[in-house]
Amino acid sequence: MSGTLRISICDPDETTRENLKRYLIGMDQIWLEADCSRYEFFAEIVSQTTPEIAIIDIDSDDEKAMQLVESISKTHPSIGIIVVSSRTDGQMILRAMRAGAREFLNSPIQIDELVGALDRVAANTDGKQRSNAGNIIAVAGASGGVGNTSIAVNLAVALATNPDRSVVLIDLDLALGDADVFLDMIPDYTLLDVAQNISRLDLALLRKSLTKHESGVYLLPRPVQIEDMSAISNEDLKRVIGLLKASFTHLIIDCSKSYSRLDITALESANSIVLLTQLDLPCLRNVVRLLSSLETYDDVNDKIKIVVNRVGLDKMQISSTKAEETIDRDIFWRIPNNYPVISECRNNGVPLLENAKNAAITQSICELAEKLSGDFEDEEGKSSKKDRMSWLKFLGK
Ligand SMILES: Nc1ncnc2c1ncn2[C@@H]1O[C@H](COP(=O)(O)OP(=O)(O)O)[C@@H](O)[C@H]1O
Ligand SMILES: [Mg+2]
Repeated sequence: MSGTLRISICDPDETTRENLKRYLIGMDQIWLEADCSRYEFFAEIVSQTTPEIAIIDIDSDDEKAMQLVESISKTHPSIGIIVVSSRTDGQMILRAMRAGAREFLNSPIQIDELVGALDRVAANTDGKQRSNAGNIIAVAGASGGVGNTSIAVNLAVALATNPDRSVVLIDLDLALGDADVFLDMIPDYTLLDVAQNISRLDLALLRKSLTKHESGVYLLPRPVQIEDMSAISNEDLKRVIGLLKASFTHLIIDCSKSYSRLDITALESANSIVLLTQLDLPCLRNVVRLLSSLETYDDVNDKIKIVVNRVGLDKMQISSTKAEETIDRDIFWRIPNNYPVISECRNNGVPLLENAKNAAITQSICELAEKLSGDFEDEEGKSSKKDRMSWLKFLGK
């Protein structure tokens, strides 16, 4: 059971208890240790089962329930307690926190909030590190047509070759995104559908709403109608990312070039940002402008990796050394130019790995994928994430 998060729940109300159970049972790497309908019995059950997390709904009798929270937090300080209540007053939240709760969830429980709370509590629980949550790679570009979608799609496919990973590609180019064309897919649901229905989705439904490519990559495409792009709020996107992050080991986001509030949210939530450029003056000038503008957002700049696309495109290209001097940054990776191969793949809607496995461009993207995967020890010697699966991965993926 290593890597599994063991949870016990207590809620005298059958309806809300069953609802919570349904959510938890739908999550991979969650083990429901016990479900209890009586506050009086739960302390004993917890002593016997010693779960990592205890979820207590306090609405049936908040006095009794608060005493229970207090007693468990004293006797088992390592157990992360999550209190659930339909009451939202600050006093109640404060009481729960003072009694020893680590998280307070409002009922009816929203799946993404539950996932977020489990994630945070697990992060502080002995032996479970938050690093098993999804690794987000945002692909941004310094100019139109720089290769965002080509690289995002093929990075996702390269990552998905490892069966231990679960990869979702999100098309955030809400007006003109074409990730679906690159993969020759006609998905049933879009980012808009998921955003609008997030409060009704459980993980099994979310999984059904995403279309899976034969490479293993799940795709969440842009809305169908251009006018629908304004219907996705920043909050919506944060919730969608939060849920996907808890459900997949890798999220690849194909950002738009408008650097809208939504793009910035994607950049802020990313673990690493691929900033694609070509070796020409307009692109490099935009890199400088972007680095300067993005400085205003917390840690965004530190996560940026400059990736040069289409190296060798023509003799007039600026040299790498000169480019690094201009942007005052090291180039993280170089992807060679190969228009015939990449355009054929795009026109046929097949990934590079399927059509041109041995081409230098494909190998380069695969190596970049491994470097960004977060699976290996980084330069600072942070621990390896290899084999650490997202504990909220969908069942059966
Ligand atoms: N490494 C590359 N070599 C040759 N052509 C490329 C390369 N990367 C992208 N392209 C081409 O550049 C064009 C724009 O690519 P695309 O991925 O749609 O860019 P964006 O998403 O930034 O608009 C496409 O015709 C694509 O085939
Ligand atoms: Mg694109």
